[in-house]
Amino acid sequence: MVQLLTQLVLLLVIFHYSIATDTLNPNQPLQDGQILVSAKEFFALGFFSPGGSKNRYVGIWYNKLQPAGQKTIVWVANRRSPLSGTNGSLELNDNGTLTISSMMFLPMPSVILSNPVAQLLDDGNFVIREANSSEFAWQSFDYPTDTLLSGMKFGWDLRTGLNRNLTSWRSNDDPSPGRYVLSMDLEGIPQVNLWSDSTKKARMGPWNGITFSNIGATKSNNGLSSAFVSNKDEVYYMYNTTGTTIVCRSIVDQSGMEKSFVWIERSGTWNNVLYFPKSQCEEYSECGPFGVCNIDVWPICRCLQGFKPKSPQEWALRDALSGCERLTTLDCKNKTDGFMTITITALPETSKAIPYPNISLNECRANCLKNCSCTAYAITNISGAGMGCIIWVTELIDMQMSSHPTQDVFVRLAAADLASISSKSSKKNRSKSMVLIIVFSTVALIFLMLFFCWRRRRG
Ligand SMILES: *[C@@H]1O[C@H](CO)[C@@H](O)[C@H](O)[C@H]1NC(C)=O
Ligand SMILES: *[C@@H]1O[C@H](CO)[C@@H](O)[C@H](O)[C@H]1NC(C)=O
Ligand SMILES: *[C@@H]1O[C@H](CO)[C@@H](O)[C@H](O)[C@H]1NC(C)=O
Ligand SMILES: *[C@@H]1O[C@H](CO)[C@@H](O)[C@H](O)[C@H]1NC(C)=O
Ligand SMILES: *[C@@H]1O[C@H](CO)[C@@H](O)[C@H](O)[C@H]1NC(C)=O
Ligand SMILES: *[C@@H]1O[C@H](CO)[C@@H](O)[C@H](O)[C@H]1NC(C)=O
Ligand SMILES: *[C@@H]1O[C@H](CO)[C@@H](O)[C@H](O)[C@H]1NC(C)=O
Ligand SMILES: *[C@@H]1O[C@H](CO)[C@@H](O)[C@H](O)[C@H]1NC(C)=O
Ligand SMILES: *[C@@H]1O[C@H](CO)[C@@H](O)[C@H](O)[C@H]1NC(C)=O
Repeated sequence: MVQLLTQLVLLLVIFHYSIATDTLNPNQPLQDGQILVSAKEFFALGFFSPGGSKNRYVGIWYNKLQPAGQKTIVWVANRRSPLSGTNGSLELNDNGTLTISSMMFLPMPSVILSNPVAQLLDDGNFVIREANSSEFAWQSFDYPTDTLLSGMKFGWDLRTGLNRNLTSWRSNDDPSPGRYVLSMDLEGIPQVNLWSDSTKKARMGPWNGITFSNIGATKSNNGLSSAFVSNKDEVYYMYNTTGTTIVCRSIVDQSGMEKSFVWIERSGTWNNVLYFPKSQCEEYSECGPFGVCNIDVWPICRCLQGFKPKSPQEWALRDALSGCERLTTLDCKNKTDGFMTITITALPETSKAIPYPNISLNECRANCLKNCSCTAYAITNISGAGMGCIIWVTELIDMQMSSHPTQDVFVRLAAADLASISSKSSKKNRSKSMVLIIVFSTVALIFLMLFFCWRRRRG
């Protein structure tokens, strides 16, 4: 009996080893219970059941990084079509398509391969290619679930219409698409938005050459590089940890947060190093049109100078969504309008903004003045394409103020409002100097008195 058991264990071990390869060949299906393991054993692919569910899914997880024995799933093949039994199998067909128990679960290449192989790579990408070629005919990186890994493109291939976005799981037990989507949206100037069903929940803002302008992250010095690519063929964001020891993943979780995790070897856990939105001011359009949100003051919403709350009753109840309206309407025809400079955290909503690459600040201003619907202009790094001009022809939405504002925006105002702002600010300056003079004289007087006292005592 014992002997039989040892034999069985031995058999199982041999069986296990014989299957722990990174490659799937046609007519050698991967059965439920077997796994593919990438060359350096970093990732594994196989069948799993999430949380308390009994449903079976094909997924990819970190082979060795399993905090408290839990798999961290980074990709799910059949998130919409689970299997009910543990009798499933993943097949690579002769023509180079993948099926799970003979069912197609994702769009597959329409080209017919003659000698296909499927391989799990060490970056977590599962690819299909001709055996004699290194070019991928299909890759799992093109069909992300809720996780962005190093080397994955987040965004668009404009030639094929492929839109790679992240969609939250429905629950811990159910990887089917939940309500939150992080996507690269191309209207106006490309920006990354977090959607809750069809409502924009938060905006990471356009890429400013270093980071997404709205997330307030500073340039990192941990070796992690990231890039934004925008040309006629592609618009995508990607980060890269190759050449570092960092293990990093970003997800959109079930509560609608974008979170980045880094593996901490010492404790064997995932550290949440970044999350978004992290404050009320990062919720989309918290203060409405022409309102500015500042998390460091109370109340957090203010109107831009030259504007007043559209609904004072609502604002009094700290509901600022209706935003602000002008004190004085613009006077475009008479050409008396001017501009007020504001310095804020990031660009206002750019989905309806118009980019003019390669023109100067003066030309930008002239372009704005020419168009009666223009409300503002700015000079900025346009999605990594270099410095350029942007004009807005709509209300200004989703503006934030922080302790390190860096983005100048020139807001169009009627002459009367500009005049009252400049007189107010010079009055403010005047009263500031008065205060300084009084403080200075008082201090001088105290010193004088002390000096005389000291003389008296000595004398
Ligand atoms: C697997 O088992 C389930 C029931 O557990 C059954 O409905 C299904 O047809 C089986 N599939 C295959 C490929 O045998
Ligand atoms: C490839 O083979 C599978 C399974 O035989 C089939 O369902 C699919 O239609 C084929 N695809 C093409 C492009 O021929
Ligand atoms: C790969 O093999 C196919 C035939 O199986 C052949 O037509 C093709 O030219 C080969 N490609 C390369 C790059 O060797
Ligand atoms: C990632 O960075 C490494 C080292 O800097 C580089 O060799 C590699 O090409 C980069 N990968 C991508 C996909 O950009
Ligand atoms: C996310 O991508 C999927 C697949 O390309 C697409 O159907 C869906 O509309 C996208 N959602 C958003 C919000 O971009
Ligand atoms: C503009 O973007 C480039 C990278 O595309 C960056 O090197 C540069 O520092 C950015 N300039 C400003 C003013 O942010
Ligand atoms: C434009 O100027 C004329 C003449 O000064 C004035 O009557 C008119 O009200 C101005 N228009 C606006 C919209 O202010
Ligand atoms: C902007 O100017 C730069 C350098 O002068 C040039 O390389 C680039 O092609 C120009 N871009 C556009 C859109 O004209
Ligand atoms: C102002 O810009 C908007 C948006 O591009 C455009 O529809 C409108 O025709 C422009 N108006 C003028 C007078 O150029």
